[in-house]
Amino acid sequence: MNEITDFLQKRRSVTVPRMVDIDVPEEDISTILHCAMRVPDHGALNPWKICVISGDARPRLGQTVLRPEFAEAHDDASEDSLIFEENRFLRTSVIMAVLSTPKPHPKIPVWEMELSAGAVCMNIVTAAQSLGYAAQWVTEWYSYNDKMLAALGGNTDTDRIAGFIYIGGKTEAPKERRRPEAQDVLHFISS
Ligand SMILES: Cc1cc2nc3c(=O)[nH]c(=O)nc-3n(C[C@H](O)[C@H](O)[C@H](O)COP(=O)(O)O)c2cc1C
Repeated sequence: MNEITDFLQKRRSVTVPRMVDIDVPEEDISTILHCAMRVPDHGALNPWKICVISGDARPRLGQTVLRPEFAEAHDDASEDSLIFEENRFLRTSVIMAVLSTPKPHPKIPVWEMELSAGAVCMNIVTAAQSLGYAAQWVTEWYSYNDKMLAALGGNTDTDRIAGFIYIGGKTEAPKERRRPEAQDVLHFISS
């Protein structure tokens, strides 16, 4: 056991509703992003992009994408629910959106490029939590929305949103959640 394996066995996500909005210094954002970019990537294709959402971009995306797109999909949406949707990105001061941007390749399957985008998400979660922040990887409905994908700079013909990692503060340590039973998920083959 060392500091890193100890941390990895204990880390836990804090859900967005339980986060508190705190300022995340530029230095920490930079550290998290450098960890994010350092993931396995077959062929070094960089098949992903990271869009850091902060400041006025949060209400702007709420007004131009979250609210109208939710309203269009839900004729009967109440004003309260529209306000909730519009304010989603105001729940923390910084959100990192990870786009899977696969590149055509004769040998490397798109699946592997998508896995690399998932690794970026997990490195963001791990790096942020290791710095003491609350962090959660969510997709929610707007990861599957083309207007959101385009607003984040993605190509709606080829790219997908792998997730949004909200980064904030926590007021208490999160409770442990149910974890898999080792015998259900581990399989050792040695002969
Ligand atoms: C691809 C992906 C998408 C997820 N989307 C959501 C979501 O939309 N809403 C949610 O509450 N949790 C979502 N989760 C789960 C959260 O990240 C959750 O907090 C996590 O499972 C907690 O696990 P941890 O404590 O081991 O980090 C998602 C997880 C993954 C991997």
